[in-house]
Amino acid sequence: MPLIISAGVLLSSAPMAADGNDLNIQYLSDHNILVRTSANNEKYILLPVQESAPMAHIRVLSDGKLSELVNIPLAESKIDYYVPLTLADRDGSNIVLDIRCNNNRADLRDLTEAIWTREIKLSDTFDTSNREMFRPLFHHTPEYGWMNDPNGMFYKDGVWHLAFQWNPYGSKWENLAWGHSTSEDLINWHAESPVLYRDDLGMVFSGSAVVDKVNTAGFGKDAVVALFTSADASQTQSLAYSTDNGYTYTRFEGNPVIAYHRESRDPNMFWDESGKRWVLMLASALDGEMLIFTSPDLKEWTLQSKFGRDYGAHEGVWECPDLLKLPVLKNGIPTGRDKWVLICNINPGGPFGGSAAQYFVGDFDGNKFVAESAPEVTKWMDYGKDFYAAVSFSNAPEGRHPVIGWMSNWQYANDVPTLQYRSANTIVRDLSLFEFNGETYLASVPAQEMDSVRGKAIKGRTGKLNGKGIKYTLPKENSGICEIAFDVEISGGATVEAVLSNSKGEKVTMTLNAGDDTFSMDRRASGITDFSEHFPAVTTAPAYNGTGRYCVRLFIDRSSIEAFDASGRFAMTNLVFPNEAYDTLTISAPDGNATLHRMNIYPILIK
Ligand code: FRU
Repeated sequence: MPLIISAGVLLSSAPMAADGNDLNIQYLSDHNILVRTSANNEKYILLPVQESAPMAHIRVLSDGKLSELVNIPLAESKIDYYVPLTLADRDGSNIVLDIRCNNNRADLRDLTEAIWTREIKLSDTFDTSNREMFRPLFHHTPEYGWMNDPNGMFYKDGVWHLAFQWNPYGSKWENLAWGHSTSEDLINWHAESPVLYRDDLGMVFSGSAVVDKVNTAGFGKDAVVALFTSADASQTQSLAYSTDNGYTYTRFEGNPVIAYHRESRDPNMFWDESGKRWVLMLASALDGEMLIFTSPDLKEWTLQSKFGRDYGAHEGVWECPDLLKLPVLKNGIPTGRDKWVLICNINPGGPFGGSAAQYFVGDFDGNKFVAESAPEVTKWMDYGKDFYAAVSFSNAPEGRHPVIGWMSNWQYANDVPTLQYRSANTIVRDLSLFEFNGETYLASVPAQEMDSVRGKAIKGRTGKLNGKGIKYTLPKENSGICEIAFDVEISGGATVEAVLSNSKGEKVTMTLNAGDDTFSMDRRASGITDFSEHFPAVTTAPAYNGTGRYCVRLFIDRSSIEAFDASGRFAMTNLVFPNEAYDTLTISAPDGNATLHRMNIYPILIK
């Protein structure tokens, strides 16, 4: 594809490519370039990205009108990957990219030598086939680009919808839009077209979606209504609705529907059946409190109360709230009692640094949430480093309360060693409550759908454990991707170690300590850890067990380990980047006093 380079040519006399299919580049100055095309046969302009390059600010003009604003670190000396800018969906056929580069170059020559000016190209296709050794098998990831929080999640007509904070133009946080995936089983996710891109009110930050069953908003019965944060100079809350089950959304002309005087974001709504109105939680991020609004129609919102100033952890901003009514179970059986749980994600200030999800148990009367524990009590949904922005799916069937988290940590999310995409979601967990020593806690159990992807169990040796331990081989043919379920009885306050390792000497050590009733995971020698000083870590969870008999489930998927007590009393999610898959599990009791009753290793197989 010939490029016409016309340095110094005046805008008005710019030559265009003869066949209308080429890119024409004009250098206006040492920090400003125009790229023009009137291609109507090709679908994309492929833009070369170098993640370490300075940010270029691009105004996409379509027939002279501003169509999109994007920020991309265009490649200067090496190309990490390409990102596609879609031409087809724009109103108009003359597309101009008005590119402003950070003006830290010495002169025009630096700009003309930037590799992107030679490698930018038109294309009819954009290859999304996987190039990443760390891409998980059974966790949701975007096909390409950056992902953070799960957004606008709902269930309808047999389909689970998961939108997510997405950068269509690179694998670091920028240009936030809502990507979209769907699933029929909460495990196999299909990439759908993105649902919301930035508009005049700003980027599209996190939010939620509900099914408006009785047409309170007037967009139609069963319309899907989403509320999200429009983030620009201010953070305001905007509404969009969908009349095709959440595949496409239309923005409401009355946006924003909430403009609070302080930085506030991540609206999360639900229908309050007893009050017959909508309830919305909004994070007043800097004040460290959650605002509770109500509405008859999803458009007019009234602030009713605030929660949290003096409660729980406050080292960071409060974000991504959720409020749920959950059953209290005893030994897995409903007690007939319910309590309310307010989920409050915080960054930083997590138990092991960076971001994490705390929660409060209490009561909600339709206007106000009251916590039942003392203000200084802090409870965490997951005691790993990589579980954030967790919120629930609305309209879930069968009384379920499934949640999904973003499987990363703001301390290093932008630096993890992947390029084509960055970040996965956790597996889905179903929530309920249990009581232990006078407090009520969240139980997080892997969604039952996870059972259906278990391959044939490899039943491992059991019996008394000693310091040497028993070794098991993980399913090599399946790249070590598996669930490990074991059941161990520990007496006399002893400890049991479960170590995942590979032939490179990389390992993750998990310890059950019956003395202090904890489960911990040490990933300091897990593989690639040097991309952030915050990555090597040991995380420890209270096991809330008290019996000395532990049933543990571990889910291993190339670059993550999620550990659960089988009844959900603890959950721990940690990323790992081994240079080769872990192929061995060694389980031992350094000072004896432990008996292994069950060891099942299930290769995880995806259709
Ligand atoms: C949480 C968060 C949200 C915000 C979004 C922006 O991870 O900071 O508060 O809406 O990410 O991407």
